[in-house]
Amino acid sequence: MCNDRIVSRWAMLGSILIVLFVASVSAVHAQEKSADSKVSKQNPPRGLTSYMGRRVALPMSYHGIPWLNRPERVDEEKPIEMLEQLRLQNGMTICDMGSGDGYYTFKMASLVAPKGRVIAVDIQPEMLQALSKRMQEVKVENIDTVLGELWDPKLEASSLDVVLMVDVYHEFSHPVQMLAAIRKALKPDGVIALVEFRAEDPTVPIKPEHKMTKAQAIKEYRANGFKLVREYDKLPQQHLMFFGRDEEWQPKD
Ligand SMILES: C[S@@+](CC[C@H](N)C(=O)[O-])C[C@H]1O[C@@H](n2cnc3c(N)ncnc32)[C@H](O)[C@@H]1O
Repeated sequence: MCNDRIVSRWAMLGSILIVLFVASVSAVHAQEKSADSKVSKQNPPRGLTSYMGRRVALPMSYHGIPWLNRPERVDEEKPIEMLEQLRLQNGMTICDMGSGDGYYTFKMASLVAPKGRVIAVDIQPEMLQALSKRMQEVKVENIDTVLGELWDPKLEASSLDVVLMVDVYHEFSHPVQMLAAIRKALKPDGVIALVEFRAEDPTVPIKPEHKMTKAQAIKEYRANGFKLVREYDKLPQQHLMFFGRDEEWQPKD
């Protein structure tokens, strides 16, 4: 009887020790986890001021919304002709990367309706707020807004048919991380439609760091796992280049 008691006391003590041990291990894990998330929030990947010999431009502020909606844009960019080249169809999922307040988002939303959707990604909440306000005014429902990080557009893997970037890519402070994330988010036959003002043409009235040459764009996209699949050279001031995933590409360590 007495021996039984001693044994059960030892068993109880053992169980208490096991519970304490498990609790302390979980607490250490929880601390490590929260330290990890602090590290990634406090130390995001380093942004670049130049990339592969090109000066990176600063992002255009939301104060420039009136400029994005200037009436002359129709003649300067020929938006309808540009969007025709994207071959959009009802049911597609499209991303307007760096959407601003949605100059192209709304046009694309009607081209993929009623079954398709447009994901509008921007890093400035004010741009997305302006876009959402307009969505309510014009009662368009097939647009989702996503507030991205400079290095992460927060896109779902293998989900996109087309990613349109109009006058945006040259502003990426993290071009490598952004292109890797977009590559992952494209469906196998999905494409990036890259629109940049022509740097080869000195008569295009845009600051040099907001323009790109075709050769520079191809160099940067090749280095990040893309190949040029087609292009359209008839826009008044901009290049329109289509890049697809290069499945033979191997990332360098
Ligand atoms: C010149 S505006 C063009 C807006 C729109 N594409 C248009 O044509 O009206 C460039 C936009 O890209 C956004 N941008 C810059 N870097 C970005 C990034 N890493 N991810 C998402 N958007 C970004 C800026 O906040 C800005 O709204």
